[in-house]
Amino acid sequence: MKVLVVGSGGREHAICWKLRQSPKVTALFCAPGNAGIAGIAACVDIKATDVDGMVAWARENAMDFVVVAPDDPLALGMVDALEAAGIPAFGPRKNAAIVEASKAFSKELMKKYHIPTAKYETFSELDRALAYIEEQGAPIVVKADGLALGKGVVVAATVEEAKTAAREMMEDKKFGESGSTIVIEECMTGPEITVLAFADGEHVRPMVSSQDHKRAYDGNRGPNTGGMGAIAPPSQYTPEIAARCMEEIFQPTVAALKAEGRPFCGVLYFGLMLTPEGPKVVEYNARFGDPECQAVLSLLDSDLMDIFTACREGTLDQSDIRWKDGAACCLVLASGGYPLDYKKGYPISGLEEAEKSAVVFHAGTKLGENGEYLTNGGRVLGVTALGDTLERAIANAYAAAGPIAFQDMHFRTDIGQAF
Ligand code: AMP
Ligand code: GLY
Repeated sequence: MKVLVVGSGGREHAICWKLRQSPKVTALFCAPGNAGIAGIAACVDIKATDVDGMVAWARENAMDFVVVAPDDPLALGMVDALEAAGIPAFGPRKNAAIVEASKAFSKELMKKYHIPTAKYETFSELDRALAYIEEQGAPIVVKADGLALGKGVVVAATVEEAKTAAREMMEDKKFGESGSTIVIEECMTGPEITVLAFADGEHVRPMVSSQDHKRAYDGNRGPNTGGMGAIAPPSQYTPEIAARCMEEIFQPTVAALKAEGRPFCGVLYFGLMLTPEGPKVVEYNARFGDPECQAVLSLLDSDLMDIFTACREGTLDQSDIRWKDGAACCLVLASGGYPLDYKKGYPISGLEEAEKSAVVFHAGTKLGENGEYLTNGGRVLGVTALGDTLERAIANAYAAAGPIAFQDMHFRTDIGQAF
């Protein structure tokens, strides 16, 4: 099969790396890809959000299958467009990708189908939002409705902070139109877990659980990022909690989307909080999480292409999905300053040495004129190692990352420790 993966981050590198292991994949392409992906797939210079360009290229080059990995093209309906052109694609259609594209939609879905989540109200008028914040008190959570690159959420410790956030979103349009509707939620407490699940519209098969580290600095301080590291599986996610999530959250969500005429085919991301009252949904995403994907796919012991095919064919319940014993840790090496201002274009050294004991997924890299690797993004690399235990996996990832260097490199020293 000739397969095209859409995207350019660590997640797409991990997907390509896993697909490369499938005997069914005879030719692998990635658009636009990055310097690391270029080592295992042919990179095609088309932007991930260029729906027409992507469909035209896939048709002209006779792709047998396209994997749409990032949220933006999913929300734009790239899967629908590929299908309309007769090209099988992995990922939810636009009407199902809305679980990520609209928080208001997701919250209403959970309310209607009794899926546990924080109590909330949706507002499109500032005055009413401010009055609700006053009435509820703090701590309280204020969220922009649309896609805001993970930055549209404020966990406010005081009423004033919450009101400022609401004003910035609705009045000052800090996130553009994404903030014209906001969601105000009860503040939940407890460890945060990610469960990625394959779904075929009807059946759902959770992957090994994982945990992201969203804040930039040690001790969960600093600004929210796309994720500074991930472990799989976290110890808090016990078999009892997993069974409860399956019954109260995963199956009901997939059934709810089907009942709404929006069958979800792809990877459904469950952001969960294990609260004192039980597991509750923080958010849904319509795709693999990154960096969680890098840790989780490292533990997959089955053919990913087979699973993608089963998701499209509706046969996921019969699919052979096995996981390796042990654990994985993905340590993100980022550009100093990320997620705010940072510089790009610095040479990266030590990769070969690191690759002797870990898989180094590239997130933001490009090739220089002499074929050297250069930094090209906020998150640069994801050093991913396995271990018999989580402690070993974490130690292996840090040891492997040791020789890697680039100017202003920043990473957290407490991945897997702070929870
Ligand atoms: P979201 O984009 O909805 O995942 O929110 C980003 C982050 O904000 C989450 O990963 C949580 O750490 C935090 N958060 C979101 N909603 C809540 C909530 N209702 N209670 C406590 N923390 C939350
Ligand atoms: N790591 C969080 C996300 O992919 O949304």
